[in-house]
Amino acid sequence: MASGSGCGKLILCGEHAVVYGHPALAIGVQRTTTVDLQPVEGPTSVHSAQGVDEQLIRAVHGVISPTGWRVQLTSDIPMGRGMGSSAALSVALVRAYACATHTMLTTEQTHEQALAVETLFHGTPSGIDNAVAALGGLVHFRRTDTGPVWTSLPCPALTVVVLDSGTAGNTRELVGGVRERHPENTPILNAIGALTPQIQAALTDLDRLGPLLYNNHQLLGELGVSTPALDSLVHFAMDAGATGAKLAGAGGGGVVLAVTHSPDQLVARAVHAGIDAFCTPIATGAA
Ligand code: PMV
Repeated sequence: MASGSGCGKLILCGEHAVVYGHPALAIGVQRTTTVDLQPVEGPTSVHSAQGVDEQLIRAVHGVISPTGWRVQLTSDIPMGRGMGSSAALSVALVRAYACATHTMLTTEQTHEQALAVETLFHGTPSGIDNAVAALGGLVHFRRTDTGPVWTSLPCPALTVVVLDSGTAGNTRELVGGVRERHPENTPILNAIGALTPQIQAALTDLDRLGPLLYNNHQLLGELGVSTPALDSLVHFAMDAGATGAKLAGAGGGGVVLAVTHSPDQLVARAVHAGIDAFCTPIATGAA
């Protein structure tokens, strides 16, 4: 049996702007997708407790030989919630197949191969999701003319509360919508990009970090990717003591992340209010 994993992620700041070359920060979370490969006779088959659709089959066939494998997927990353489920799957497939075929891959090679799979899902991904799925931890990411540049940063002791809107956003459509409505380098995208270094400098000070994250959320709202449900989760979190909150990922649904001095208390209040919520530290990536 050969195995590979990729971790889920949350974008702390810079989503959408990152597509246009602005910097972004993302963190690995304690959710993982694992692919187990078993050699079999005959055609490759795909198995997952969450169900198998055509997109998943295409992703598997983008990496794994069409014959000779039983592919078992296991994941606790919610799908379509901006938590990097497809990137974690792409990285897990690439790593599992490399393991099965006794191939050593550098992080750059893993990223490059996983990005090709991710493109099947999202059209023109910036690559930030794959970088975090492969690396975990805290990642600074920027797309340049010569390719993506990512840096693993020292991890602060930050716990993030995740509140799930219960609906999925469509990253491909949301990124396309921003492209139509906001030609490159609009003031909103520039303002989002300018927040990233400020947020990076405030990661250990929740009273500075929260308002900057909320500022990022407001800018994403102006960009047209928030929803009334996401706005109301942000305000719920802040009314319940979060120093700040924002949608995380492409928007249109998905999750909100919040920072607070009392993460467990915020999760308890959210769950009491019927909101699916959990907290996570910054998690180092699974291999
Ligand atoms: O897949 P999501 O929801 O985490 O969105 C990815 C972040 C975007 O900036 C919206 C798109 C991208 O490819 O960077």
